[in-house]
Parts: sequence; structure tokens; C-alpha cells
Amino acid sequence: MQLAFTERNVLVTGGASGIGLACARAFRAEGAKVVVLDRAPGPDDIDTVRTDVTDESSMAEAVATAVARLGGLDVVVGCAGISGPVGTPLVDTSAADLAAVLAVNVTGQLLLAKHTYPHLATGGAIVFLASDSAFVATPGMAPYCASKGAVVALTRALAVELDRVRVNCVAPSVVDTPMARADLGDSAIDNAGFPVQTADEVARQVLFLAGPHARPINGQALLSDFGYSARSAFPA
Ligand SMILES: NC(=O)c1ccc[n+]([C@@H]2O[C@H](COP(=O)([O-])OP(=O)(O)OC[C@H]3O[C@@H](n4cnc5c(N)ncnc54)[C@H](O)[C@@H]3O)[C@@H](O)[C@H]2O)c1
Repeated sequence: MQLAFTERNVLVTGGASGIGLACARAFRAEGAKVVVLDRAPGPDDIDTVRTDVTDESSMAEAVATAVARLGGLDVVVGCAGISGPVGTPLVDTSAADLAAVLAVNVTGQLLLAKHTYPHLATGGAIVFLASDSAFVATPGMAPYCASKGAVVALTRALAVELDRVRVNCVAPSVVDTPMARADLGDSAIDNAGFPVQTADEVARQVLFLAGPHARPINGQALLSDFGYSARSAFPA
């Protein structure tokens, strides 16, 4: 399958690590020019503009810098995210915890779309990282679940509001990244009794949604969870 990203200009937030880094490298391997926005420094091979996705003036400047370096913009991928409290009961979850998670995972995606859309070429694409936590939950992660549900709703809202471009999101279950290892511990990932995706697998889902083969797909969440959410409670 020809993904047709040769000479396409791609901007990825959160591209210094994990899924964002895998996306940056996957687009580049398909011939795209890629610039990453991240608050952390990226690896030496990644062209990174440092910014905080929650800070609107910093984002506006960083997007302008990235677009100038690229010479245009065809694809935007929003991977920057944080998990916030994990395993924390709601009664111990502070408003500050909630605000911090919503700021990165929701406001960050909204600011990304706001500041990149004016530069995006006709036929372009925005792909956000949501999570299966938008649809299913484990106890102790209420802010994260709420934030990812909002990303799915934001995806639909922008798909109907923005012309010229498609807006979709990927909603994976657990992915082997620094975030998941920090949250769950190395042994939970290395000896997982549940299926775990690689960041490269998620990147391929992102590339599909961003590319011409997904032309009719707009406003959708691609739930990649090995079928876990499909299971009925019916005892058969
Ligand atoms: N790892 C998983 O199991 C999993 C599952 C489903 C969805 N996701 C989502 O995928 C996305 C990427 O997660 P990951 O697992 O690769 O995590 P990661 O921690 O490896 O990478 C996240 C990147 O986002 C950057 N970032 C965080 N806050 C930022 C901010 N305010 N401004 C700029 N950059 C910021 C970090 O510096 C980091 O480079 C996130 O949105 C996450 O919620 C992850």
C-alpha cells in the first residue's frame, strides 16, 4: 500500500517520546518532512521545537516556527499527553490534578488544531491520540478517562466544523511506552497478562488515518484494543 507521504509536511506533538516519536519516524520513513513540538528535548535525529502545548502564546510561536521549517503543512498529529493520577480514588483526586490532565490532553489538542488549521493544505489531516479510556475504564483514573472522552468529542466537533481537512483519532489500549512503564511498572508490561501494543503499531494506525486511503473517514475514533471492548456480558 502506497501511503503517499513523500514530501508531505508533518507536525507531531509529543514526538520526543513513545507514540509521538514512533509517528515521527514512521512518517519520515515514508518520505515525509517532520517537525516535532514537545516540552522535552527529542533525540538528535528528530527536529524538535520546544513548547508547552497548554500555553497558547508558546504554541502559536512554535507552530509558526515548525511551519516555516517545513515550508507548508499537510498532516498534524497530537500525541502530547499525560496520564495524571493512576490508581487514585476519586475522593483523593484534587481539582488541580484534574485541571493538569485536561490542560494537556484536551486544551493542548484544541490549541494544536486552532493554530495549525490556518496552515493546513486542502486534503490535509489531523489525527489525535485519544485512548481506549474514552470508552472503557479501570478505577483510579477518572481525570484521564474524562480527558480522553473529551478528545473523542473534540474529534467529532472539529470534523464537522473544519472544512479542507479530516479529523480523526486513535484510541489504543495499553502501549509499551515510557508513560505506560512509569504508570504500571516494567514487570507489568514485560510479563503482561493482557495484550500490549507497540508504539510502532499505533504509528501505523495514525499513518493510515492521515493518508489518502482514509479519505472517506472523518470524525472517527479508531478503537484498537484487541477486541476487549467488544465482549458482551452474556455468558456464552
Ligand atoms: N502508552 C499508552 O498505554 C497509551 C495508551 C493510549 C493512549 N495513549 C496516549 O498516547 C499519547 C502519547 O503517549 P505515550 O505513551 O507515547 O507517552 P510518553 O510519555 O512516552 O510521551 C508523551 C510525550 O508528550 C510530551 N508532553 C507531555 N506534556 C506536554 C506538554 N504540556 N507540552 C508538550 N509536550 C508534552 C512529553 O514530553 C512526551 O514526549 C498520549 O496522549 C497518551 O495519553 C497512550
